Amino acid sequence: MKEDELHLILARTHRDYIKGGITVITRGEGARVYDRDGKGYLDLVAGMTRPVHVGYGREEIARAAYEQMVQLCYYTPMQFANEPALKLSEVLSNLTPGKLSWFFFVSSGSEAVESAIKLAKHYHFYRGDRKRYKIISRRGAYHGVTGGALNILGTVLPMRQIMEPLAPGTIFVESPYCYRCPLRLTYPDCEIACATDIERIIQFEDPEQISAFIGEPIQQGFGAYAPPKEYWKIIREICDRYGILLIDDEVICGFGRTGRWFGIEHFDIQPDLMTMAKGISSGYVPLGAAGCTDAVMEPIEIFQHLHTYSNHPVACAAALKNIEIMQRENLIENSLRMGIYFLEGLKTLEHHSTVGEVRGTGLWTAIDFTSDKKKRAPFPVQRVNRLIERAKKKGLMIKTMGQTLEFAPPLIIRKEEIDEAIRILDQCITEEEKELNL
Ligand SMILES: Cc1ncc(COP(=O)(O)O)c(C=O)c1O
Repeated sequence: MKEDELHLILARTHRDYIKGGITVITRGEGARVYDRDGKGYLDLVAGMTRPVHVGYGREEIARAAYEQMVQLCYYTPMQFANEPALKLSEVLSNLTPGKLSWFFFVSSGSEAVESAIKLAKHYHFYRGDRKRYKIISRRGAYHGVTGGALNILGTVLPMRQIMEPLAPGTIFVESPYCYRCPLRLTYPDCEIACATDIERIIQFEDPEQISAFIGEPIQQGFGAYAPPKEYWKIIREICDRYGILLIDDEVICGFGRTGRWFGIEHFDIQPDLMTMAKGISSGYVPLGAAGCTDAVMEPIEIFQHLHTYSNHPVACAAALKNIEIMQRENLIENSLRMGIYFLEGLKTLEHHSTVGEVRGTGLWTAIDFTSDKKKRAPFPVQRVNRLIERAKKKGLMIKTMGQTLEFAPPLIIRKEEIDEAIRILDQCITEEEKELNL
């Protein structure tokens, strides 16, 4: 589509890109999407922002949403409940790890993060702990774009800077990114300094002013990066020591992306609050959720928070059907099995001189590129971007995350499709390296 025909504002899309013409996606089926000209693309990022866990074209979910619209399209989330929201909260209290048993539904991951931050603040407020307002986030973190979520955005993007000044109260700590450790240490000799050092920062900031720590169990900012196995236990212990609540942001990791229902299950700890979105409804309807334990909910007399579309019955009905499909088709198990297969395929690309590290957990994988394997030197982001264009021409949708190519296909992906993807990726990297005379 040409630039002069466009009246739609595209999110995070540079004008120069639009000048080249944009692709209009019109249809999806299984793990593939199709554009206006009928060209098909194998979708290795489940809708690019990664929500479409059960794949495209699920009539069952459409029917569930339709039936709920006819039955009851909407009723207020204040003082009244509706059947799908009640049911979904019950389902989630069984699916989520440990003691999470209260859920508030919103329309996006950012709103889920806002809600969790507010729940944490309410908890402290009603306990008379009214000084606690600071949130600990990590450099490299992404938690969304609304007010509170933007405050804790840890990436050095113009996204944050354009909106400054932001509200005070965010403490940024380093991320567990061992491949290029921000503390220039090496695992395991580092003794997980990126986690233990947080205690020193808390003492400096005044422990009595800190409300919560937020983090993704496996982090997107550096390309599907799983921390060392000890990391989350250390964070949990530090939070407990200072009465700081732990918010587990499962917006990407949740609902099978990493081969478990929730990413935190890989680390065997219990969060106080959890945020989710994306895979909760597989992108069929906008939906996010914030959950918390009994202990967090107990002191809260009234949750002073409301979106018109909180606890939306149609979104919750669609999510219930989506979760039912995941259970019936064992998609979490498929994520684990296909994730291993996918990672093995990606490892065959390690002979390329620009492929620094290949990693992944379940069906969330990445290739970290480098211009010097030994020194793990950064690779120009523009070059990684060129790989996306090459792949798109060959019918494969992929995305960058910093210096990495990140993959998060629908959880229904099959071996043949993974083989096809690896073949195309190999061709694209070979072409790019040839152009660079490598
Ligand atoms: C970990 C995490 N939290 C929050 C968000 C924000 O979600 P949304 O884009 O639905 O507002 C995202 C989005 O990618 C995310 O990855």
